[in-house]
Amino acid sequence: MQNISTIFVLDKNEQSGEIIKSFTENLEFINEVKLYEDYQKGYEDIKQASNPIVIMDISEDIPDLHKIAENIKLCTAKIIITSINYSTNTIIQALRMGAKEFLPKPVLKDDLIRVITMLASISPEDENSQSKIITVYSNKGGIGKTTIAINLAAELAKVTKDKVALVDLNLQLGDISTFLNLNPPFDVNYVIKHLIDKDEELFIKGFEKYKDTSLYILSDPSYIEQSGSITPQQITELFKALKKVFTYIVIDMSSSIDPISLKILDDSDWILFTTIVNIPAIRNAQRCLNLFRSRIYPAQKVKIVINRYMENDEINIEDIENTLGETVYWKIPNNYFTIMEAINRGTSIAEINPDSNIGSNFRDFAAKVSDDIIEQAVIQYRV
Ligand SMILES: Nc1ncnc2c1ncn2[C@@H]1O[C@H](COP(=O)(O)OP(=O)(O)OP(=O)(O)O)[C@@H](O)[C@H]1O
Ligand SMILES: [Mg+2]
Repeated sequence: MQNISTIFVLDKNEQSGEIIKSFTENLEFINEVKLYEDYQKGYEDIKQASNPIVIMDISEDIPDLHKIAENIKLCTAKIIITSINYSTNTIIQALRMGAKEFLPKPVLKDDLIRVITMLASISPEDENSQSKIITVYSNKGGIGKTTIAINLAAELAKVTKDKVALVDLNLQLGDISTFLNLNPPFDVNYVIKHLIDKDEELFIKGFEKYKDTSLYILSDPSYIEQSGSITPQQITELFKALKKVFTYIVIDMSSSIDPISLKILDDSDWILFTTIVNIPAIRNAQRCLNLFRSRIYPAQKVKIVINRYMENDEINIEDIENTLGETVYWKIPNNYFTIMEAINRGTSIAEINPDSNIGSNFRDFAAKVSDDIIEQAVIQYRV
């Protein structure tokens, strides 16, 4: 069933705007189609609308386009982007602006109606198909999972401006609130028990908004005995609820392999499987990769991350790749002093020293993760 919507057409070209209007204004679930050549003015009206569908053209240079697109994205509008140019780069740009669909110009009536009908039937309560659960995991303790989860999530929020959740599922020994010096009013146990079926506004109250960013943090249970009451089924429900609200969900967890951990790993879209460069760690990694293989995860789900990497290590990356039978996705340099300073001051690395080797590494890491996720979506468009 379609929800009643207003369509906002943002197009510098009056003629093509009129054509889009004529294609869509008689649809029974559309109550009005509004045309704008001034994108900022369009945004001001979209902000006030409930359930808006936005058709935004990016064929021409538009002043402040990125800023306006960022604002529209935050209105939970359903965005269709059109352009006379349909190179891969343009599609990537469109997806970054939050497009649910991309249509090349001239727009064909059948394509437009199909896309609008599909978007109008998605209720705001439905899961956002572009959302990804990214879990940082290692089957060995103390490898750097929490450090990586925190700094990757913080940079993802900065680089993409999308809503990012950082969730502490290390249910008995969570460290995120300590590392970031937070005193959260709620925790994952409370959110699962009381907020999981609430609307976005209430659900998000269970999280601590991190400073002036789009990062939201959900902490581990305050009491160890509460951690045992969370079931694998509730993990699935939590992930579903998170995907309705956040674009990127970064999970920190324990290194054990128990039913809850397996559920987290099974239900994740990506596993950033982290190891360091030494023989015992690599042996353990090998065993864990065998376990992942036996669970027949989709290709590209498990990505190897090397932490505390040093150029002159005796074991080189090629050796690791040969032993593990996988390519290394990312390397994070060893920088104990910067990381310890961040932890001791209860903040992210970027706030201590963004230009350090590790500060810039996390920025590049977040950019790569978001680029790769967007590229996966582009491949789906292209096939
Ligand atoms: N790239 C790095 N360079 C130097 N030190 C690091 C690096 N990454 C992590 N560390 C250090 O390693 C230690 C363990 O890190 P962290 O707590 O993030 O690991 P963990 O895998 O989450 O541990 P646990 O299994 O206890 O949850 C910390 O003292 C941290 O400062
Ligand atoms: Mg940890």
